[in-house]
Amino acid sequence: MPTLSRPRVEPTRNLRIRRRLGQAAIALTALALAGGALAQQRVLRVISDRTDQGVLRPILQAFEARSGAKVEGVFMDQGLVNRLEARPTEADVVITKDAELLEIAAQRGLLDKIESPAIKAAIPPEFMDSEGRYFVDAFRGRVIFYAKARVEPSELSSYEDLALPKWKGRICIRSGSHDYNLALFGQFLASYGPERGRVLIAGLADNLARAPKGNDRAQAQAMFEGKCDLAIMNTYYHPMMAANPEQKAWADAAGVFFPSQQGKGAFVMRSAVGLTKARDNRDLAIGLLEYIASREGQETMVKATRQYSVRNDVPPHPLMVRLGDAQGLRDGKFKIDFVPLAAMAGVREQALRVVNEIGFDDRQ
Ligand SMILES: [Fe+2]
Repeated sequence: MPTLSRPRVEPTRNLRIRRRLGQAAIALTALALAGGALAQQRVLRVISDRTDQGVLRPILQAFEARSGAKVEGVFMDQGLVNRLEARPTEADVVITKDAELLEIAAQRGLLDKIESPAIKAAIPPEFMDSEGRYFVDAFRGRVIFYAKARVEPSELSSYEDLALPKWKGRICIRSGSHDYNLALFGQFLASYGPERGRVLIAGLADNLARAPKGNDRAQAQAMFEGKCDLAIMNTYYHPMMAANPEQKAWADAAGVFFPSQQGKGAFVMRSAVGLTKARDNRDLAIGLLEYIASREGQETMVKATRQYSVRNDVPPHPLMVRLGDAQGLRDGKFKIDFVPLAAMAGVREQALRVVNEIGFDDRQ
C-alpha cells in the first residue's frame, strides 16, 4: 500500500456524514436532471444519400454536442427524391452528395425556404439556390490526374483537349454511365452546348486506353502500373489515396491538373442541404444548417470529406493546398465553370443517351 507522506487530517464523523449526504443529494439531483433531459431530449430527423458511418457522422455528432439534440437519420444510396415525395415530412433536413437532386426536389415543391440571416451571410450567392430553398455545402472537382513520369502539366489544357488525337490510347476512366461521369458529361452538354459536348464525349471515348472499368481509384492504380497516362477523377481521391498506405504510391505518381483554367473553368460536383416540409423541429433544423454553414462546420466538412468549402475563409484540406501548384495555381484555388443547377435538370438523361449511343463503355 502506498503511504501518504503528509499527515492526514481526519474529518469529524458528523462532517463525513454530512458530506456523504451532500454527495448523495448531488448525485440524485444529477440523476433527476439527466432523467428530465432524457425525457425532453429533442430529436432532429435527417434524410440523406450519404452513408451514416461515413463522412456525415462527425458533422452530426458535433451538432448533437452543441445542441443537446439527438440526430436520427434515414440513409439511402438511391431514390432520395422519390422517398421525399412519398414521405415529405419523414425528416426535417435533407442532405445530399448531389445538389442536382435538391434542385429536382425544389422544383417538385418538396423543400421549404430557409429563413436564416446567418446562412445568407455565410454562403456566397453562387452556392445558394436563387429562391433560398437549399444551399451547396461543399464541392469537389472532377479533373485530370496525370502520370507525372510521362506527362508534363504544360501538355494539358482543357477538357476539350482530351478529345485530340495526341491522347489516343492514353486515358483511363470509370464507366461512362456512373453517376460521377454522367454529372461531368451533363455539364459538358450544358456548358459547351449539345453538339460540342457530344463531340467531346465521343472523342474522349476514342482516346481510352482500355474499356472503362473499376472505380476512380482504380484509374490511378492503372496509371501507376503504366496502363494509361491520364485519368478523370474527383479531387478528394488524391489526399485519400495519399493517406492510405496501400495507395500512397498511386497518389505520389499522379499529378492533379485543373482543366480549362484559361477558359470557362473546371467542373465541380456539389453537395447540398435543405429543409423538408416538416415544421415541428424547424428551429433545430435551421440550427443544423447554420452549423453546416458556419466556419467550424465547414472546417469539419473539409476534414471529413476532403471536399472544398463554400466559405472563402475556410482553406482546402492541408493535403490539397498544393494541388494545381505545377500549373501555377496557388493555395489550392481554381476557376470553376458554374453550370447552374437549374440547367442541370434533364441533361443527365441526355448524357446517358449519348453514352449509350456511342457505346462509351464498349470502346477499347
Ligand atoms: Fe467518391
